[in-house]
Amino acid sequence: APAAHRCSYEDYEATAKWLGSQTEQRPKMAIICGSGLGGLAEQLENRVVIPYRDIPNFPQTTVVGHQGQLVFGTLEGHQCVCMQGRFHTYEGYDVNQVTYPVRVFSLLGVRTLVVTNAAGGLNSSFSVGDIMLIKDHINLPGLVGNNPLCGPNDDRFGERFLCTSDAYDCDLLALAQQTVEKQGIRASVHQGVYCMVSGPTYESIAEGRALRTLGADAVGMSTALEVVVARHCGLRVLGFSLITNKVVTDDRTLKANHAEVLVADNNRAQDLQGLVRGILAQMSVD
Ligand code: 6GU
Repeated sequence: APAAHRCSYEDYEATAKWLGSQTEQRPKMAIICGSGLGGLAEQLENRVVIPYRDIPNFPQTTVVGHQGQLVFGTLEGHQCVCMQGRFHTYEGYDVNQVTYPVRVFSLLGVRTLVVTNAAGGLNSSFSVGDIMLIKDHINLPGLVGNNPLCGPNDDRFGERFLCTSDAYDCDLLALAQQTVEKQGIRASVHQGVYCMVSGPTYESIAEGRALRTLGADAVGMSTALEVVVARHCGLRVLGFSLITNKVVTDDRTLKANHAEVLVADNNRAQDLQGLVRGILAQMSVD
């Protein structure tokens, strides 16, 4: 594992202050766009684009299919900041770097975090291209010692022993489900449990089966860490997985690969964007 990358409150503050000097926008909502899902950021009005490389203390992205910039702007009446490209532990970042932007957003005044990701389907009733509303997660790295809240607790962000049984906001989830019904896309949208693994390997057959047995409906290599840190600093969280492929749990001739993940994304990312916009349109602007 890479050496722990500790960040002080002052580091986060410096980044937030610098961002605040680059735009007058003060978003109340942050959206983390998963691989292939950056299109949402393109739809913002009054866009202010800031490449990660220009932002003090920010990590940089390295994955094909992930961009690396913040996009400020308005979506369905909400001032938002979008991450077009996120950080993963499999790139070599540690959990503090992966979650760095979330605390910066909180210091900027963000109160709600929307997370999206590409995920492999474990639930046999899921099809490629379906959307899963995340109702809960299994933070597998966190359970075994790679939790972003390990280390000294900074009470200015949140409490030492965080409750995560309420990580995904019930009201936002209900609003998402209502929007699904209204948009007539119920057949391709499910609620389920997202399991985070560190990657970058896709699961072996035995691992896929084990995760299903654990109660996971979808598996991916992101999201849970950011959600934990968001909850620590009191943000409301709404999460979506786009099921880009099925996890292989029996047939050895099937192979998950990154190209497959990106292709499925392109075809169905539009639906997810439409759903997110529909939900935002119904949310009160606070
Ligand atoms: Cl099959 N596994 C993991 N761990 N992450 C994924 C995936 C599979 N498909 C998309 N992301």
